[in-house]
Amino acid sequence: MNLIFLGPPGAGKGTQAQLLEQREGIPQVSTGDILRTAMAAETPLGQQARQYVDQGELVPDDVMIAIIEDRLNQPDARRGFVLDGFPRTLRQARALDRVLAATGRRIDLVLYFDVADDVIVRRLTGRRVCRQTSHIYHVESSPPRRPGRCDIDGSELYQRDDDQEETVRRRLEVYHRETEPLVEFYRRRGLFEPVRNGDIESVHRRLVEILKTRAGSR
Ligand code: AP5
Repeated sequence: MNLIFLGPPGAGKGTQAQLLEQREGIPQVSTGDILRTAMAAETPLGQQARQYVDQGELVPDDVMIAIIEDRLNQPDARRGFVLDGFPRTLRQARALDRVLAATGRRIDLVLYFDVADDVIVRRLTGRRVCRQTSHIYHVESSPPRRPGRCDIDGSELYQRDDDQEETVRRRLEVYHRETEPLVEFYRRRGLFEPVRNGDIESVHRRLVEILKTRAGSR
């Protein structure tokens, strides 16, 4: 299935996309991870992106659309994908339709993770991420077995620069202004499915249930 995970920063999109990839084999396509890899390698894309990402602003649409077109045309994504972090503007959403239509594909479902702003600030300021695997932890709700080290490969965990409280609040403003209109855009097309909040495992179970029901009715 071709899925979009929509929701504010820190809603749990990446956490759930990683679980779905590990357990159901649907590839996660995270535009945030693509940008962070480019930033760490200091490629021209990374250098361009950093000025936006570190301020909590969106990277320009044209840059993001080119990235996603290239990624979705790679062989693993031809069999289905979870888009985590794209689209984030109406222009990106319309471009996504065009990119998929060019290869006879379309979006099957948009899963919406709605979490209140004050919960988001707690989640993001406590988030830690593995430098090597990008696996996501939280100092309280999802801690690693060994403090500061990834459970998967033992690499160092770090705090994203854009997870400082001031930047998180800026990202939330940008989300409400630029990305929230996509809720209506997809609701009108009958693709929209809210996922009720809860702990990480119960959200995963709800997600799998929704996907099975939808797959059964296709
Ligand atoms: P990106 O990396 O996409 O960030 P985001 O959308 O802000 O989302 P996050 O990664 O912060 O949150 P998430 O929903 O994945 O939550 P997570 O699972 O980690 O983008 C970063 C930047 O790149 C953007 O600001 C922008 O500059 C740029 N960018 C990227 N895509 C772009 C685009 N398309 N256009 C333009 N610019 C773009 O969970 C958060 C924390 O909560 C974790 O610690 C986790 O352990 C914990 N947690 C998760 N679920 C639960 C739960 N159910 N209960 C308790 N804790 C939980």
